[in-house]
Amino acid sequence: MTIRLREAWTSLVKAEDYEAHMADAGQAQANANLVVEYLRLQPTEPGATLLFVGAGTGQMFDFAPPSLLLPFDTTFTDINPEYLHRLAARLGLVEGLRHRELLDDVEDSRLRRGFKLVLGVLVLEHVDWRRAVATMCRLAEERAFVVIQENPPTLATAITLNRPIIGTMNVFRDCSPVLIPRSEVEAEFRREGLSPRYFAETRCRRQENAGPRLREKDPPDLTSSDFGRNCPHFVPKAPFLPQA
Ligand SMILES: C[S@@+](CC[C@H](N)C(=O)[O-])C[C@H]1O[C@@H](n2cnc3c(N)ncnc32)[C@H](O)[C@@H]1O
Repeated sequence: MTIRLREAWTSLVKAEDYEAHMADAGQAQANANLVVEYLRLQPTEPGATLLFVGAGTGQMFDFAPPSLLLPFDTTFTDINPEYLHRLAARLGLVEGLRHRELLDDVEDSRLRRGFKLVLGVLVLEHVDWRRAVATMCRLAEERAFVVIQENPPTLATAITLNRPIIGTMNVFRDCSPVLIPRSEVEAEFRREGLSPRYFAETRCRRQENAGPRLREKDPPDLTSSDFGRNCPHFVPKAPFLPQA
């Protein structure tokens, strides 16, 4: 990770500018949908420990009810304390929600293993991503889920420059996040011991194999299968069957 990108996130990008940018692009809503869908399609048991690395301000909870986390024991990390305060304020609105926010660097984490599921939403592009993947794999006891940015081939920059950029988000003109090909992310997770699954595709294949009765009764959910195609989650290399 270059100094500038780290500096951007620790001291230059104001939370309100980041949030305005993400809301404007529809990305905060998209992130919320992806996490909700993931937890719906790959449920994890009540009481499970969830870790969100590079969690930011928790803007996704403006679009997904934070109460969705009530069954879990959740930890959120970031390198910007102001973002984490904002996140804590959002989650604090829900009584009974078990959450803690920690300043922690995903490239060199001080956390100990013990999280059932580790989620990284739009973080890898902003850090030394191989180190971040190593951290996620070290901390995840069962699985990991990532959302990475993929641009259409015609779009060269990570931040779309053909619309106005809000306030301090302009810093990314000078220190652009680096998009990572999905194949490289998958290979790195594999190297660290977790293999990729596009669970919704598997789910649809299983339904197709199950014959017409099941297909009629329980048709593949297109939103889910699009989602599953785009966002890998990573599981131990041992055989794993997603729950249909
Ligand atoms: C594009 S934002 C994504 C935030 C949030 N996950 C979301 O989807 O809105 C990237 C986040 O990664 C955080 N970040 C950058 N470098 C980091 C590092 N080395 N360790 C942990 N978090 C980091 C930033 O502060 C920022 O909150």
